Amino acid sequence: MPVQLDLGYLTDFIRPHELAAIWPQVTTAHETLHAKTGPGNDFLGWVDLPENYDKAEYDRVKAAAARIQKDCQVFIVIGIGGSYLGARAAIEFIKSSNYNALPKDTPDIYFAGNSISPTYLNEMLALCEGKDVCVNVISKSGTTTEPALAFRVFRDLLEKKYGKDGAKSRIYCTTDKARGTLKELADKEGFETFVIPDDVGGRFSVLTPVGLLPIAVAGCDIDAMMKGAQDARKAFAAPDMDKNDCYRYAAIRNILYNKGKSVEVLVSYEPSFAMMAEWFKQLYGESEGKDQKGLYPSSMIFSTDLHSLGQFVQDGSRTMFETVVNIKTPKQDFFIEDDPDNFDGLNFLSGQNMSIVNEKAFLGTVLAHAEGGAPNLVLQLDDMSAYEYGYLVYFFEKACAVSGYMLGVNPFDQPGVEAYKKNMFALLGKPGYEAEKAALEAKL
Ligand code: PA5
Repeated sequence: MPVQLDLGYLTDFIRPHELAAIWPQVTTAHETLHAKTGPGNDFLGWVDLPENYDKAEYDRVKAAAARIQKDCQVFIVIGIGGSYLGARAAIEFIKSSNYNALPKDTPDIYFAGNSISPTYLNEMLALCEGKDVCVNVISKSGTTTEPALAFRVFRDLLEKKYGKDGAKSRIYCTTDKARGTLKELADKEGFETFVIPDDVGGRFSVLTPVGLLPIAVAGCDIDAMMKGAQDARKAFAAPDMDKNDCYRYAAIRNILYNKGKSVEVLVSYEPSFAMMAEWFKQLYGESEGKDQKGLYPSSMIFSTDLHSLGQFVQDGSRTMFETVVNIKTPKQDFFIEDDPDNFDGLNFLSGQNMSIVNEKAFLGTVLAHAEGGAPNLVLQLDDMSAYEYGYLVYFFEKACAVSGYMLGVNPFDQPGVEAYKKNMFALLGKPGYEAEKAALEAKL
């Protein structure tokens, strides 16, 4: 059974009647979502996307991925926020966080345009030296500064290397079907384009070509991934308190928030989960953090962070709860041999797989943190397959929407993202921002 919620370690923090008491809010949120009557209701395309996706375009994504695999050794994926996190998370989750360094018969994949660091950009260019390169630029608006700037540089690189015509067949644009500078440019230059549907917002877009193309280039099974999302859609379709783990997760988050927990820490014991946690943070932070409300989403990788932030979780201010993702079967195991000398005194670990040690660390930590006053809910995952990834994506997306409606916010807008852009454009002297520039400079 993929993605199961285990509330067994929460009994000291939440009593059964509390879940029943909040459930009418879940039901209302569910009805609002499915009747499409809530705020942001023109961004609900992701709800049925696992079934209602453009099949012809999906086949075109697969064909493009096969071509890219053949044409290049380095694949540069340009995008920021929802236009890159899901793909990067999937590749690390399904393949490895060491994907690029490990032996493989698919291209290295690097993500650019997700910061404005000149150092990072120069490093990406250096990684392309002497290699065949293809580029996928992803931007729903088609106007976001970070990816637009990176695309300008990589397009130039390709045109210098392959000529205008040669570059054309190596550039893939994923953007709006009609609007934006990127769409205009792609049409003018004849780049192959893929569509981000109007009713799917950036952070809910990983199952569209935004995620599908890079994930397929990495050699992940996107059919299995979509099947996982389809099964999750069916599993979480009805607001049944005993069966719908996705809605129970949304409810528990709100109960804990109402009790003064202001931070949720998503924890995993697999380093390859770290980017999935970044995707999660965007999904929940951008969806719920508004109107001066919302749980602050954060993440830790254990046991790594048990040697740093673990101290705070165990013993610091009692503001957080943990959602611990336990992966039942790791991709690989490691048998610990007996050492006849036993210099390190570790023979008590010998004769078993390392996954058992990791599991005991998980169980011991859950008990310790609960004892210390940090509520723990556990998400049990079968493995780190493409199927499980698709299932988990849908689980988190739907829980986020329901949780956001329960909180009373519009989970599908992001008004706060604009503030920094306005100031940055003004300080850079973008035409049209003259008054703001003067006002800001007076404050500096
Ligand atoms: O979730 C969102 O909507 C944002 O994070 C966007 O994905 C991000 O700002 C990138 O926008 P765009 O795809 O328009 O370049």
